[in-house]
Amino acid sequence: MTMASAPGKIILFGEHAVVSGTAALGGAIDLRARAIVQSLPGRILIETDDLSLRGFSLDLSTGEIRSASAAYATRYVSAVLKELGARDVRVMIESDIPPAAGLGSSASIVVATVAALNGHLGLELSQKEIAALSYRIEKEVQKGRGSPMDTALATYGGYQRIADDNQRLDLPPLEMVVGYTRLPHDTFSLVEKVQLLKERYPDLVGPIFQAIGAISERAAPLIREQRLKDLGELMDINHGLLEALGVGSRELSELVYAARNTGGALGAKLTGAGGGGCMIALPGMAGKDALLVALRQARGMAFAAMMGCEGVRLEVA
Ligand code: MEV
Repeated sequence: MTMASAPGKIILFGEHAVVSGTAALGGAIDLRARAIVQSLPGRILIETDDLSLRGFSLDLSTGEIRSASAAYATRYVSAVLKELGARDVRVMIESDIPPAAGLGSSASIVVATVAALNGHLGLELSQKEIAALSYRIEKEVQKGRGSPMDTALATYGGYQRIADDNQRLDLPPLEMVVGYTRLPHDTFSLVEKVQLLKERYPDLVGPIFQAIGAISERAAPLIREQRLKDLGELMDINHGLLEALGVGSRELSELVYAARNTGGALGAKLTGAGGGGCMIALPGMAGKDALLVALRQARGMAFAAMMGCEGVRLEVA
């Protein structure tokens, strides 16, 4: 039996503007997807640990989110099996990462599966090859879309700056609190909506993209020097700019304001494509627990996530 795991991700700054080439910054988080591969002569079997229609469940006592939905995970795993020509295997997927929430769930499933099969079949793929192959597979399943940031973070972990290419950044871990609206979102249509807005109002939306890119570029030194108050301020500005682009929602705003006003956050913003999905908040003096309480009172699901975590790894089964 071979088991590999890969992390999900948070986009800290730069979503949407990055589609037009400005910088974005993201980090791997300590929620992971695991792929377990075993020999199964004569068959190809894919299993996931939860078939619930909502695709995940939450243990309210611990704030622990478990499991990706079967149909969703299966699409990605079958694409990996096909690409690698794998036969006679049983692949089991477990995931802590809610799907379609902007936390890189599909990329971590793909990267963990590629890595587990790499070990099982003795393919000797390098990390770079795992990242490139996983990006290709994600893109194919998502019909031409797919973010290079997600597969890079799932593979290498840590932090990535994305602009025209990916660049690994060496930065210390950063604790975030994630609030989930419980609304899945459709990244494709949100990206299209923002790009159409840019076509209609290039003179207005262009400068917003530039400002978002400038925020992303400022962030790394602030994380390095632990200037968290300034970092929080940038999160608030970035959120306002994303709202100006039309990707906010009442549900996201409720969580963002609960984090800032009740949870003592130093800053809060939506993360990922927007609409529904998740927001993130930087804990202030009151700590992460105050934020978790505030977000849950505002009817969000909430959990703490450490940014800058380790990338794909083989696990001892
Ligand atoms: C979605 O997770 C992030 C977006 O910037 C889209 C992308 O970069 O592919 C909205």
